[in-house]
Amino acid sequence: MTNETMIDIRDLSVTFRPGRKPVKAVNGVSLSVKAGEVVALLGESGSGKSVTMRSLLKLHPKER
Ligand SMILES: Nc1ncnc2c1ncn2[C@@H]1O[C@H](COP(=O)(O)OP(=O)(O)OP(=O)(O)O)[C@@H](O)[C@H]1O
Ligand SMILES: [Mg+2]
Repeated sequence: MTNETMIDIRDLSVTFRPGRKPVKAVNGVSLSVKAGEVVALLGESGSGKSVTMRSLLKLHPKER
């Protein structure tokens, strides 16, 4: 198996501004995944797991 890094997230932060009050959904997440590795992302509901992965897939618009 290669030792190649397939996913490398460094210090990801995501803030939504649905209204007056900003929602900090992700705050300083870093993780890397090598080829063949299996990683579980654990956390309570609302802790930012889905937003982290959607950001990786570029499904959130960048702030202008
Ligand atoms: N499009 C959005 N606009 C505003 N706030 C959002 C948006 N998407 C997620 N959030 C907020 O971001 C935070 C993280 O949400 P996220 O869906 O990533 O949590 P999660 O860890 O996947 O939770 P669950 O285990 O319930 O799936 C929550 O406070 C959520 O309400
Ligand atoms: Mg989720």
